Amino acid sequence: MDNLFLNRRSVRKFKNIEVEEEKINRILEIALTAPSGRNKKPWDIIVINNKELINKIADARPEAISFLKNAPLAMVVVMDLESGTAIADGAIIASYIQLAAELEGLKTCWGHAFEKINLKGENVEEKIREVLNIPKNKNILCTIGIGYGDEDKKPHDLDKLPMDKVHFNKY
Ligand SMILES: Cc1cc2nc3c(=O)[nH]c(=O)nc-3n(C[C@H](O)[C@H](O)[C@H](O)COP(=O)(O)O)c2cc1C
Repeated sequence: MDNLFLNRRSVRKFKNIEVEEEKINRILEIALTAPSGRNKKPWDIIVINNKELINKIADARPEAISFLKNAPLAMVVVMDLESGTAIADGAIIASYIQLAAELEGLKTCWGHAFEKINLKGENVEEKIREVLNIPKNKNILCTIGIGYGDEDKKPHDLDKLPMDKVHFNKY
């Protein structure tokens, strides 16, 4: 199980192979068990397996999320900021999606959208909202590219952990 965490690396190149429906369903089952503040589940997941839509989303922020164009599948995490824990809850479910995908032998990368302005000065969330018909009162945390990885990345190395980030008893 350790390997699930160590092997998870952000991969931005994917094989031209569709992700099987059973795998998508399994990822969703795991994601929907994610904890959330007061169990409010202030998120929605939009599953996108339509290449044209994925390309349009990638174009919302080409400088950071163009890798999505290589992915056969994307999952967009939408948040309802009415809940005070929505951003944390969104990040948790996004991580669940990434790890669940890893468990299914897939690779992922997070593409950030929340509060981002692209290099053309356009609001990234607004652009994605239009493409996916997301209501105005909802925010978009990220779009996760998912697929069979086509890039060799070494697992995280336990000997190179940033242990200086860990503090015991006081900062
Ligand atoms: C909140 C967050 C935002 C990120 N945004 C992007 C992004 O917009 N584009 C991208 O290519 N990678 C993005 N990443 C992936 C990070 O670059 C990556 O996780 C980091 O470099 C560590 O590498 P690893 O995931 O392989 O451990 C994001 C990751 C997180 C957690």
